[in-house]
Amino acid sequence: MPEQILVTGGAGQLGRVVVERLVAAERPVRALSRRRRSSAGVGWTVGDLRTGRGIDVAVAGVDTIIHCATDYRHEVQTVRTLVEAARWSGQAPHLVYVSIVGVDRVPLGYYRAKLAAEELIAGSGMPYTILRATQFHALVRTILAAAARLPVVPVPRFRFQPVDVRDVAARLVELALGEPQARVPDLGGPEVRTAADLARALLGAAGREKRVVTVPVPGRIARGYAQGGNLAPEHADGVVTFEQYLAERGNATALRYR
Ligand SMILES: NC(=O)c1ccc[n+]([C@@H]2O[C@H](COP(=O)([O-])OP(=O)(O)OC[C@H]3O[C@@H](n4cnc5c(N)ncnc54)[C@H](OP(=O)(O)O)[C@@H]3O)[C@@H](O)[C@H]2O)c1
Repeated sequence: MPEQILVTGGAGQLGRVVVERLVAAERPVRALSRRRRSSAGVGWTVGDLRTGRGIDVAVAGVDTIIHCATDYRHEVQTVRTLVEAARWSGQAPHLVYVSIVGVDRVPLGYYRAKLAAEELIAGSGMPYTILRATQFHALVRTILAAAARLPVVPVPRFRFQPVDVRDVAARLVELALGEPQARVPDLGGPEVRTAADLARALLGAAGREKRVVTVPVPGRIARGYAQGGNLAPEHADGVVTFEQYLAERGNATALRYR
């Protein structure tokens, strides 16, 4: 029997691309969402990882789980629900978890939760693989687009290494189809860039000219970013650049300026 793969968060930014790749590879794929959904080649299942509703059904008979769902305020609880349901299924599925570069270096609440979730998975006795990725293009664009609405664009003295969800999805699928490897090397975007440089790229793609100024941001979290805690320069393995992403997105119409 071909391996049955469950993708949690199958309708999310990353999960959607993971599901598309599995369908294109003609793999049997089940996808979890809190809402009823349908799409060709996908066995959608309804469940909520916070309450546990429907999760036993979602994991039943599954060989591999690619966990792309995330609940920003309840990350550990939702991972625990998934791990417990998977263990009770008696199937010992391979759990592939996507985490974030710097969860152990930047003291952001969500990052701490991701680190605790990694530790929970590692201590669960389940076969697992953990991949940490840098910030996705869309997140970096969202952060900078908010600043780009101002007459003078303020940016922090941070660097980013934005990665495309297609690069992350490709790596996750590769890992899911292989043997469990515990923590694997991080995945970063192809370029480490200053926030100022990325803001100029965003403005340029929108055909705008504005002054970009670097402003100091106080606090421990900002220091973690300023020290490059969110970067993986030695793993700049993503292929799609920020400019390519912006060009494909048709960003000029997406940026709303005052
Ligand atoms: N965004 C980044 O820059 C970045 C960088 C590195 C790593 N990551 C990691 O990549 C993963 C995916 O991120 P993303 O940006 O693709 O997230 P996303 O677009 O916000 O999607 C998350 C999905 O989680 C599902 N979900 C939320 N709460 C749930 C619950 N209680 N039960 C079941 N499903 C639930 C939602 O699906 P429904 O609404 O359909 O239920 C949603 O589509 C996360 O683990 C994140 O930490 C993200």
